[in-house]
Amino acid sequence: MSSTVPASVTVRAPAKVNLALSVGPRRPDGFHELATVFHAVSLLDTVVATEAPPGHGVSITVEGDEVAAVPTDDSNLAWSAAQLVATAMRRPCDVHLHLIKNIPVAGGMAGGSANAAAALVACDALWGSSIGRQRLEALAGQLGSDVPFALHGGTAIGRGRGEQITPALARGEYHWVFAFADWGLSTPDVYAECDRLRGEGQVPEPSIPDELMSALRSGRASAVGANLHNDLQAAALSLRPRLKLTLEAGQDAGALGVVISGSGPTCAFLARDDEHSIDVAVALSSSGSCRTVKRATGPVHGARIVDIVGAPE
Ligand code: C5P
Repeated sequence: MSSTVPASVTVRAPAKVNLALSVGPRRPDGFHELATVFHAVSLLDTVVATEAPPGHGVSITVEGDEVAAVPTDDSNLAWSAAQLVATAMRRPCDVHLHLIKNIPVAGGMAGGSANAAAALVACDALWGSSIGRQRLEALAGQLGSDVPFALHGGTAIGRGRGEQITPALARGEYHWVFAFADWGLSTPDVYAECDRLRGEGQVPEPSIPDELMSALRSGRASAVGANLHNDLQAAALSLRPRLKLTLEAGQDAGALGVVISGSGPTCAFLARDDEHSIDVAVALSSSGSCRTVKRATGPVHGARIVDIVGAPE
């Protein structure tokens, strides 16, 4: 039996929305201590990793939404992900990464982190010496606060700066509508604005509301909707007051819950069911308060291989 080395590996990874995001004090390393509930949704980016000739290094091409906004150099997290896997395997890093984007860029849905998680899994499989799940998770944590969750998927609690993941007990399928803005927000800027708005006072340790966890355990969408919360929302609204119009348009359409996703500017709306999500999406599109509206369900899996193409013998 011949074991063929793959010529290319295709991996899909999900966007996330934070059902709760509690931001604690700023740490000496500049990050904020978090307690968050991550939820992976069926807005998926795809990374195709293809073996490249010796000496090629890393190259990146992009297709899909907002191509011009995605860097194709070493500032792309997927590039760093490939390098980390090569270093861990003590092998040269010669690979082409093709990114197919659906997740908004700088949108608060961890699109760059999803691409990094997908690149980790794809390069690991492409170079064929499986460095192991635990090691991949450690590399993910080095890459960014949201990358471990993009590997994990589902519904999970994040602590530390977001990189320490434990699965959450959650039941049911949730129907979401996401409104994308036609501009991005920088995550560091939003955290800095959160600090500015809080002033000098003592910041309590971050915590996750019991009401949200019990709503997730019972699978009651209305209770989940009522308990969505994001400590960064005031900061995102302070930087972009127009987002209030988008949130109000979803509220008026009867969404069970309305929240800015992560550091924004994407707004997330929880619908009653699939049909209601169409109504909410139509109302948001016709409000003229956002660039694009997309529907998705959650929870979904983390980064997963969807295709492996063997090299010609
Ligand atoms: O980890 P990541 O690269 O996604 O973080 C981007 C930026 O977001 C950090 O440089 C920091 O300014 C801010 N951040 C933070 N606290 C966190 C996560 C991110 O202040 N827990």
